[in-house]
Amino acid sequence: MEIIIQPSAEAASTLAARHVARLVREKPNAILGLATGSTPLALYRELIRLHRDDGLDFSHVTTFNLDEYVGLAPTHPASYHAFMHENFFAHLNVPASRIHIPDGLATDIPTHCRAYEDAISSAGGLDLQILGIGSDGHIGFNEPSSSLASRTRIKTLTPETRDDNARFFDSPASVPHHVITMGVGTIMDARQVLLLAFGEKKAHAIATAVEGPITAMNPASILQMHPVAKCLLDEPAATQLTRRDYYRWVFEQKPEWQKV
Ligand code: PGA
Repeated sequence: MEIIIQPSAEAASTLAARHVARLVREKPNAILGLATGSTPLALYRELIRLHRDDGLDFSHVTTFNLDEYVGLAPTHPASYHAFMHENFFAHLNVPASRIHIPDGLATDIPTHCRAYEDAISSAGGLDLQILGIGSDGHIGFNEPSSSLASRTRIKTLTPETRDDNARFFDSPASVPHHVITMGVGTIMDARQVLLLAFGEKKAHAIATAVEGPITAMNPASILQMHPVAKCLLDEPAATQLTRRDYYRWVFEQKPEWQKV
């Protein structure tokens, strides 16, 4: 894993956006895996700016989101459909037909999940997956103990994740218990992964994922096995890493052609 520590979440998000923009310029029909939550917001704002000011074109891009709450209609304000529309799709030109988000109202969830996996494969597989990390180490909604080989399926949220996400709902009790999420195996099949983590609340999950053993108890730790995974952190999220100085040194020594 490449660990990139930046002075602020803004700086890390700008780097991440530059990386995504480079992919989209080099491969206009890129297949992007997208995430929700607070973490990718600054990255999305920067991609929207690049679209508006520099003409970054998303008209041939296809997107697949990681997850959605079971039982929420796309019009529900806390649904990830609504989140993505409000924070991303309303502001740039990904055609609606190329946007994929799991359907929280699917009546036959296993069939829907298989179809989601098939759609990713038929599109050619994910070129790049953007990830946040839960304070419990989840990626997507793959909670601790998730199979590290899992595919898109239904999962039950931990009480910790329901608490973390209660801020998006009217009351803690209205946070759904179930979600549909890409599996850890689905994420691992992406050709590149960008994991973003900001704030001290993520420091323990990051230290465990990056420097701990690979374990289903911290699903993000499987990214140690990914051939092209970059982990972009702000200073507070990096505080529990024992080798921070080494990661900084590596980043500073990169040959020009290898820089993000
Ligand atoms: P957050 O969530 O970006 O809102 O902190 C991250 C996650 O749960 O994956």
